[in-house]
Amino acid sequence: MQMASKKCINPDCGLTFDILTDNYMCTCGNLLDVIYTNSPKRELIERFYERRDHGGNIYDESGVWRFRDLINFSNIDCEDFAECASYLVSLDGAEGRLSKPYKMTKVAEYANINSELLRLQPEGYNPSGSFKDNGMSTAVTHAKMLRIKTLICASTGNTSASAAMYAANERMNCTVYIPKGEVAPGKLGQAFQFGAQVIEVKGNFDIALATSLKAASENQGYTVNSVNPFRIEGQKTMIYRVLENLDWSPPDWIFYPGGALGNTASCGKCLMELYEWGWIKKIPRLVIVNSEGANTFYELVNGLFEEKRLTWNSGRPDLTLINRYYKFHDAIGKVPKTQATAIQIGKPANIVKALRALNFTNGLVTQVSDKEMADGMSVVGLNGFDCEMASGAVPAAVKKLRERGVIANDDLVVGILTGRQKDPQLVVNYHLNPNNRFANPPSEA
Ligand code: F0G
Repeated sequence: MQMASKKCINPDCGLTFDILTDNYMCTCGNLLDVIYTNSPKRELIERFYERRDHGGNIYDESGVWRFRDLINFSNIDCEDFAECASYLVSLDGAEGRLSKPYKMTKVAEYANINSELLRLQPEGYNPSGSFKDNGMSTAVTHAKMLRIKTLICASTGNTSASAAMYAANERMNCTVYIPKGEVAPGKLGQAFQFGAQVIEVKGNFDIALATSLKAASENQGYTVNSVNPFRIEGQKTMIYRVLENLDWSPPDWIFYPGGALGNTASCGKCLMELYEWGWIKKIPRLVIVNSEGANTFYELVNGLFEEKRLTWNSGRPDLTLINRYYKFHDAIGKVPKTQATAIQIGKPANIVKALRALNFTNGLVTQVSDKEMADGMSVVGLNGFDCEMASGAVPAAVKKLRERGVIANDDLVVGILTGRQKDPQLVVNYHLNPNNRFANPPSEA
């Protein structure tokens, strides 16, 4: 059985906290990891595979809880259905159930990559329509352990949809802070539909997050943004599903769009653990894709601010450089601006954990334009899969890095398509403009 606690990520601190506490941040100001005392045995791979034949057990059916032995912070007997049922939060086994990596021939053609060497994993077929359900099921499980009554978050729309959905299902309250006028209508509709209290913030996501964290610190709710380490645990299962479908032989590259950098943090932690446990020998290189209009991580990591490259630096990154970057942009009044509103974020809350992930995986950060993301989203559609504009950053960046020769001819590439389309007007507008690469304008009778 796994015994878990929370531990500060700063190697000079390393303070630990009991699992039954609700702080997401150490007293020294750094974020926390969920850590486990044991090293799970690789033979579990067989058990995960057998659970796919779930026989009506929703914890085996769930693409998150099928891997529960690796995220067992509740310290339960994973084979005991009654214990699973009293602890694990699940939308009837639906989270992660439909998620696996697919070949997409038209995307491969567009990105100039052999179609056998590209796999894209849509997370948009989760019950609330995005990857967030992976991490929300675990975060709400922790909330339930603490007997929490109200969940709270800031969101560009998908986190709030997911939080509100699980809150409704668990008879909890949910308060969501959203940047007014900057959330896709389909996402905002979900928050209302699932009974959340919507609070509109004048300003961008960064301001909404600060407002929501302040409200949580005044005991107005339990934070379920990706600063919550239990979110990060559930999001690791996306990579377990990728690896399972590749017979646990890691790809050369893994691509994600980058916003608050929770996925980046989670993928890094997932790979670090699997490597440490001896489950994988090869470490895939992580590629994080920023939108050109919201490119903090891209600029800092690539040394485009003050000509200094921001690095993990053995756990001692130059936090003053990050603060100067934020101060400079606040002073000139520059706010993140992109049509991919999901990733319209200027101050990525998981930036330090994300640096650790880049360091461990020898990762890269690139950026793409709105036009490139729209093309990426559209070509995914032509393969019969649905994704939103932020997810379109992935095929766009694969194409870019193939063109630049960064991805070699025989490299295997995996990309995560983070969410489904919740702004249909954006698609219609794309197709009305014949200048767009994949546009198919309507004809008149
Ligand atoms: N893709 C989609 C569809 C998202 O909704 C988000 C984040 C990201 C990518 C970025 O992921 O934060 O892990 O780097 N959406 C958050 C929200 C911020 O509030 O729904 P990240």
